[in-house]
Amino acid sequence: MSKDTVTLINNRDGKSYEFPILDATVGPSVINISTLYKETGMFTYDEGYTSTASCRSDITYIDGAAGKLMYRGYDIAYLAQEKTFLDTAYLLLNGDLPNKAELDNFSFEMQKRSFVNEGVKKLFDAFPDRAHPMAILSAGVSALSTFYFKHLEITNKEEYKEMANRIVAKIPTLAAFSYRYSQGLPIIYPDMNRGFTENFLYMLRSYPHNYVELRPIEIKALDTIFTLHADHEQNASTTAVRNLASTNAHPYAAISAGIGALWGKSHGGANESVIRQLEMIGSVDRVDKFIAKAKDKEDPFRLMGFGHRVYKNFDPRAGVLKKIRNELMGELGISSELVEVANKIEDIALSDEYFVSRGLYPNIDFYSGLILQALKIPKEMFAVIFVIGRTPGWIAQWSELNKQKSVKIARPRQLYVGSDDRTPEY
Ligand code: ACO
Repeated sequence: MSKDTVTLINNRDGKSYEFPILDATVGPSVINISTLYKETGMFTYDEGYTSTASCRSDITYIDGAAGKLMYRGYDIAYLAQEKTFLDTAYLLLNGDLPNKAELDNFSFEMQKRSFVNEGVKKLFDAFPDRAHPMAILSAGVSALSTFYFKHLEITNKEEYKEMANRIVAKIPTLAAFSYRYSQGLPIIYPDMNRGFTENFLYMLRSYPHNYVELRPIEIKALDTIFTLHADHEQNASTTAVRNLASTNAHPYAAISAGIGALWGKSHGGANESVIRQLEMIGSVDRVDKFIAKAKDKEDPFRLMGFGHRVYKNFDPRAGVLKKIRNELMGELGISSELVEVANKIEDIALSDEYFVSRGLYPNIDFYSGLILQALKIPKEMFAVIFVIGRTPGWIAQWSELNKQKSVKIARPRQLYVGSDDRTPEY
């Protein structure tokens, strides 16, 4: 019996089976059970894939217990504090950080490709005012496949690069258009003289021919949010993207599916819920009542923006955002009842035994919600911002799967609990 195996014994018939252990470069090893059904006639059951590794990946590593997150081996705090979102996007897409010339070139590519075919705009006309920007964005990305059909089949490295640059560059434009249309506002074209993040904020805020003030701290805060959202291992939307990729679907369809998954309240919608909850609490004198509700086992109320499925010590992204939130609010001189409510909740949660003993620290959504609110970005755009950040990660994951020698279509099995052989009544 090899040391690097796990033995499974079926107590029903006493048969034993050996499965190899595969080691990760860092983090938990896995048991390779790909022959399990063939050997035992049984499947595994793991609802929500809490103990299942669905792929091999060298993109992102998370250690929830240690509060660690790395993209391609670089710590998230280093990338967020020392690098820009474009550096990070380049890193995810190409495997290494860019040098100065590569970054300049990538940045120029982004500017050049940020425009969309004029025909795309007609699509937006079909949506009513107040349509949710996520619905418009998802449809817009899907529609890109009708304009840029060269990338429906990708056969070489150059085509992959072009596709990746095209999608990363166009998503902010589509996102800004989605918002402007949803509000009945005129759309603003990209400005070739502005950098990636600044350009997005400009398209969101500006009026035609009007000056728009964009402070460096605002651009930095939004850029940091993009960086911190750029990838997060095999989360629900990335899994959706990979599932589509496994069917040989083109990247536009895969990204559009990712947007659909991210729209869910339990995924990309959490920071919007943070702000809605703070507004619902309304004033500092009501905070204690809601803290008591959050601690009450009989009450389903939960404090939004606290706790995380993976990070049980602290969310490494939250620490970075807390710093930026403090700088932003200080510089913009923002003070409001909502901010005071948030500060009081944060203070209590960081010291109260209930939250501390359960490791319920403020998560990324708590701080990103407050930052986006301070940037005057409407709540229905919060998930859209997440999409802009996550797009390089989705494309890197789509591409990683497609570069494998052989790709298995994602096709889980089930534990059937329905009726067996119902006899029809005549
Ligand atoms: N408020 C009050 N109590 C909480 C909260 C909260 N936000 N989160 C967890 N708890 C309590 C639970 O009641 C439980 O208490 P118990 O041990 O006495 O039964 C304990 O903490 C552990 O909670 P679980 O639900 O087991 O933790 P899980 O890992 O399953 O949930 C989750 C994580 C879903 C994020 C949860 O903390 C939560 O609902 N938070 C609020 C929503 C939120 O902020 N979501 C965004 C997460 S970040 C992201 O997805 C990008």
